[in-house]
Amino acid sequence: MAAAVASLAVPWVALRTLLLRSWHSSAASSSAWAEDLLHHMDRRDTWDRFYLKNRASGPQHFDWFFSYEDASGLLLSTLQGLSSGETRILDVGCGTSAFGLRLYQDSPHQLHVSCLDFSPVALDSLRQLLQDSPPPRHPLSCLCCRLADATDLKNTFESDSFHLVLDKGTCDTLLRCPQGPGKAKQLVAECLRVLKPRGRILQLSDEDPDARVPFLEQAGGGNVTVTEIGCINGICYYGYTLGQRLLDSTDSREQSPEGKGLDDLA
Ligand SMILES: C[S@@+](CC[C@H](N)C(=O)[O-])C[C@H]1O[C@@H](n2cnc3c(N)ncnc32)[C@H](O)[C@@H]1O
Repeated sequence: MAAAVASLAVPWVALRTLLLRSWHSSAASSSAWAEDLLHHMDRRDTWDRFYLKNRASGPQHFDWFFSYEDASGLLLSTLQGLSSGETRILDVGCGTSAFGLRLYQDSPHQLHVSCLDFSPVALDSLRQLLQDSPPPRHPLSCLCCRLADATDLKNTFESDSFHLVLDKGTCDTLLRCPQGPGKAKQLVAECLRVLKPRGRILQLSDEDPDARVPFLEQAGGGNVTVTEIGCINGICYYGYTLGQRLLDSTDSREQSPEGKGLDDLA
């Protein structure tokens, strides 16, 4: 129990610091907004208020934990293995993060990026940022914004839809709510359902592997691997990859993404 409290305490402090640094209003009002967000992270209206405040001076990216540049090594090394054909990526709980947009812009390979969030305010900002952005490197790449609850995607995406599901901070959000673990498990289950059979989920998080790996395994994930992204502003971040659990457990080693590119995931 003590370990679980410790693993929550660090991110909460970090999030408060991040929010205070990012919002240029008075410290007192920023603190109230941060408290609102930190205590009601599973509620859409809370996030709508957050993104509304964040775009007060026009649409802009807000990236949770760290910026695209901080994780571009991990992302681009994953993308390097892409071969011909379209690769389908879902950024689940995208907010106004630059990750989906940068992947779409920078990849020399054809990508279909779906940026999904339940906050219409966030998606409205992201659509405007997309409109103002340069064209993608691959002329057939596309990006679409989808408004949906990530814990129930049955009316949004069919099973077997994506090669890669990116989750930066969304699972963390649900884990820190009152009904946290249950909702977070629903999220992981939906992400696993929409994956192609050999596709991967990539979660970017500040949660310690001692807590996250067993959670992901309990949530139904197979072949969970951990990559240390590094320490940014004194906080360590990790990339967790997982896929669907194979019926024959002897196959799971063969499914390891180590040394494989996404062209192996077709
Ligand atoms: C911690 S923020 C991360 C945003 C973004 N991925 C980033 O890295 O900046 C969590 C995001 O998940 C979204 N979210 C939370 N619960 C959700 C749900 N049930 N369905 C869809 N989006 C959700 C919030 O609106 C918010 O944009």
